[in-house]
Amino acid sequence: MPFPATRMRRLRNTGVLRDMVRETELAAAHLVYPLFIELGTDSRTPIEAMPGIDRLSIDHAVEEAGSAHALGIPAVLLFGIVSDKDLQGSGAYDDEGVVQLATRAIKDAHPDLVVMTDVCLCGYTSHGHCGVVRPDGSVDNDVTLELLAKTAISHARAGADAVAPSDMMDGRVAALRSQLDAEGHAGTPIVAYSAKFASAFYGPFREAADSAPAFGDRRTYQMDPANSDEAVREALLDMEEGADVVMVKPALPYLDVVQRVKERTGLPVAAYNVSGEYSMIKAAAAAGYLDERAAVLETLTGIRRAGADIVITYHAKDAAGWLQ
Ligand code: PBG
Repeated sequence: MPFPATRMRRLRNTGVLRDMVRETELAAAHLVYPLFIELGTDSRTPIEAMPGIDRLSIDHAVEEAGSAHALGIPAVLLFGIVSDKDLQGSGAYDDEGVVQLATRAIKDAHPDLVVMTDVCLCGYTSHGHCGVVRPDGSVDNDVTLELLAKTAISHARAGADAVAPSDMMDGRVAALRSQLDAEGHAGTPIVAYSAKFASAFYGPFREAADSAPAFGDRRTYQMDPANSDEAVREALLDMEEGADVVMVKPALPYLDVVQRVKERTGLPVAAYNVSGEYSMIKAAAAAGYLDERAAVLETLTGIRRAGADIVITYHAKDAAGWLQ
């Protein structure tokens, strides 16, 4: 039966027409570039497990944000790296903290670039957990909510265009929404890490942010990789609480979750192509096992095809360059 086979291939053989009917668009306009920022000036510290990604002092972060923007990337996501840590993670909600200072500096230099900030305590607590820890080692959800709201408000006050809570505490979106509103930031959207799985793929990030938990793990607040119905429930709950964008993280092992969350919420969906996913491609490419450019573009297209409106990726600058 030659006819069906021919029909399947006819468009593929046409070039321009094939491009016209492409179902999924990958463009820099959908990408978010994460930045790791530390205090100090004129410093760039390579992150060993993430070749091509550095911890940046604020002046370098401003420059890096500008070069991403020039490539057509509309948004950056800021993570603060601090050495001064305490039990309450007070560096997270310090108005003169590293993310707050960096937000002001980046917005001053590049007012049209969208600055999103990661809202969590794990980079600022001495024990590395995402919330305040009780004497028995468990995380105190409700005390943590107050500190997360303070953090989000402090970021908004510094000029953040959107806040992204990544802690996975219960009720955080509602807490952030009501307190942002009460403080005059009703216009600041919440990009909620709704379905954040307890993943091995955060390994390189924890090196970068120096945020590995000192004891235990994050499985009491991050999700079991086996669960997809639960991810949908988390996303629906965040939607009810006022999330403007819901996120699935990591991306590649959870593309089915991206698709379900998109279908069930109808909200804009972000997928976070995390550190370990980046490092895998980088390592394989460095060893000559993969063509980096082709692998990255295929990966990001796949994440978009699954239903992600926004893709947060460390490949953003490379991809934007290749897409030009
Ligand atoms: C903090 C946070 C993590 C990531 C983003 N925000 C790490 C974690 O939960 O341990 C991971 C990002 C990445 O791996 O690229 N809660």
